[in-house]
Amino acid sequence: MRKILVIGAGGQIGIELVIRLRQMIGNDQVVAADIKEQCPDALLNGPYERMDALERDDVRSFIIEEKITEVYLLAALLSATAEKNPAFAWKLNMEGLFTILDLAKEGHVKKIFWPSSIAVFGPTTPQVNTPQLTIMEPTTVYGISKQAGERWCEYYYDQYGVDVRSIRYPGLISYTSLPGGGTTDYAVDIFYQAKLRNKYTCFLSENTRLPMMYMQDAIRATIELMDAPKNKIKIRSSYNLSGCNFTPKEVTEEILLHQPEFEVNYEPDFRQKIADTWPGSIDDNSSRNDWGWCEQVDLKELVRLMLLNVNVELLTK
Ligand code: SER
Repeated sequence: MRKILVIGAGGQIGIELVIRLRQMIGNDQVVAADIKEQCPDALLNGPYERMDALERDDVRSFIIEEKITEVYLLAALLSATAEKNPAFAWKLNMEGLFTILDLAKEGHVKKIFWPSSIAVFGPTTPQVNTPQLTIMEPTTVYGISKQAGERWCEYYYDQYGVDVRSIRYPGLISYTSLPGGGTTDYAVDIFYQAKLRNKYTCFLSENTRLPMMYMQDAIRATIELMDAPKNKIKIRSSYNLSGCNFTPKEVTEEILLHQPEFEVNYEPDFRQKIADTWPGSIDDNSSRNDWGWCEQVDLKELVRLMLLNVNVELLTK
């Protein structure tokens, strides 16, 4: 019997992932856990546990007592926030991972999902169609933690047979919950300001190209990767994954087709420096060949869906 725990369930990916997993295997089989005291409204239809990913003993006893078979470990600080608190970011992003990898090594957990990121790449990485295997010299704390995490995942698979699977997510665009602390967040913020009929001040420059993905594609990728037969998973560090890629100017032009009066100006801040070290596009042939990945949502469709669905009330919640 599958019993899933999603740690960091209150975040941008967590909420949508829990909703989908509950639809698939039943509400009671998917425990949402987060540091927040209150269960997010969208997850009230199933079990919720207040959990600090850094409380190793609590996490361990919960997983063992509840007979959790799969863990999705999403609790982390993203790139921009991590730069403001490097020591804590390193601690959170690494210690939580070891707790779960060790539980799997001891046989308590059968399968782990752990997200990596395009942040594992750096200024010396080829920026166009970045290959799966390439130079990786990340310059952000977040990127360093994700790269180290990838190495540890592969190590636990090689040495102890731990079934851990991972994706290098690009910037994720969604409307159910807000992102927090990422360099790619402008591509979500811009839709709220468009919907509010405000002028948007973008914190990246107009020609900064970054890999992006609509959340529906990202959730589907995560589930397809986790459902794939074990022998199909050839990469145990983390898979490159591509949806679409665009610049602030290109997404603005697409919004203008729906709202011709929309205005954007550009005031790059410290996040520009981070974005400049990341790829503009990703080669994800390994994901396509190994477990059949294929994206569905392009920029045009992404813009249409975001303008249709963004709910500005989320901004004040
Ligand atoms: N969206 C993330 C960030 O900007 C990248 O993984 O930090």
